[in-house]
Amino acid sequence: MVNYGPFLSANAKRMKRSEIRELLKLTRKPGIISFAGGLPAPDLFPIEEIRKMTDLALQKDGKNALQYGPTEGDNRLREELAKIMRKDGIDVNIDNILVITSSQQGLDLVAKIFLDPKDIVMTGRPTYVGAIQAFNSYGAVMIGIELDNEGTQTSLLDQEVQKLISRGKKPKFIYEIPDFQNPSGITMSLKRRKELIDIAEKYDLIIIEDSPYRQLRFEGKSEPSLVSMNPERVIALYTFSKILLPGFRLGWMAGPNDIIQKVVTAKQSVDLCSPPFNQAILTEFLSSGLLEKQIEKIIAAYRDKRDFMLKKLEEFMPKIKGLNWTRPQGGLFLWVTLPEGMDAGDMFLTAIEKNVAYVVGSAFYPDDGGKNCFRLNFSYSGKEEIGEGIRRLAETVSEWRGRSRRSSFITP
Ligand SMILES: Cc1ncc(COP(=O)(O)O)c(C=O)c1O
Repeated sequence: MVNYGPFLSANAKRMKRSEIRELLKLTRKPGIISFAGGLPAPDLFPIEEIRKMTDLALQKDGKNALQYGPTEGDNRLREELAKIMRKDGIDVNIDNILVITSSQQGLDLVAKIFLDPKDIVMTGRPTYVGAIQAFNSYGAVMIGIELDNEGTQTSLLDQEVQKLISRGKKPKFIYEIPDFQNPSGITMSLKRRKELIDIAEKYDLIIIEDSPYRQLRFEGKSEPSLVSMNPERVIALYTFSKILLPGFRLGWMAGPNDIIQKVVTAKQSVDLCSPPFNQAILTEFLSSGLLEKQIEKIIAAYRDKRDFMLKKLEEFMPKIKGLNWTRPQGGLFLWVTLPEGMDAGDMFLTAIEKNVAYVVGSAFYPDDGGKNCFRLNFSYSGKEEIGEGIRRLAETVSEWRGRSRRSSFITP
């Protein structure tokens, strides 16, 4: 048997398997109701429209659709993407836009161009697990800043950045998910957005704004995107995974042209270009005005599911001090906090035995926090499953509450 360990690079040795992906394997057990993945509702995929757009793309220019394409992405598609952004108050043209193989690739590419081992990245606490994984694979040191119901606590961020700079460890960038954050569902207030931009300007920092959920607002007023507030300092990532379908693996990055050029070079060694066939179908879909309709449909369905999940949580969860959850105004997730001392990781196997799954909070912490939290997805399951799943989950929480009360009695 060959021992492959010594052959691995320092980067590969550092890479950790995502706990979430490992746990997701358990959630594929037959009969399980899974609130774990960040999956859109498959019943809402516009299969018929995609079939028609596929025919159209092949009829119009099949030879190009099936050929290699430019790394930057198809120009017609980039123009459609620029239109989407302009509608959102962001002043861009196609030179600011790069088509990427979904936003996970965008995270890897920004890490690739900005990070050397031991570089510092500021993140939320909690934050998206895939970002932790991407930054970790380049050897970054992540420093998490606590969120409250207005998003990242900018006063803490300011203090931390100042402290780091005084020690000669200026962070390379700040990673933010301002709208319906994954995992918490929290949206950053306008005041905090302004403060975040001020911090970036004051300390000369770059912000990576990750926006998979921004267009999925169910209610309330949209706040300006960070990239609209300072297009020179913000690199924005968008994806079609949540607003249309993840199977295309398409998204885009928007930022200053100098940065985009650098990322283009980095992307060439990764995949040359994002799938031109998918880009061609997507271009037809967008130019036919189908995305707006699709987003409207998704918003209505997800709002309904969110309301239902919140109602069932109220109905079934035991009334315990310290047990609470967020009420997101959009997106795919809500975040449950258990009383201190309860461990969502310990509870997980009981939940699986009861055929219900969530993601343990610690997966979303760049440090060792989040043990008493978990994330629930409300987009994937049907309403009947949501009702039954929350009932099972409430039963799990009640049982574990009993256990942790008893154990704290034994060990004062
Ligand atoms: C905040 C955030 N960024 C990036 C991604 C990656 O998504 P994709 O690569 O499908 O665009 C996700 C997926 O859940 C996410 O929640």
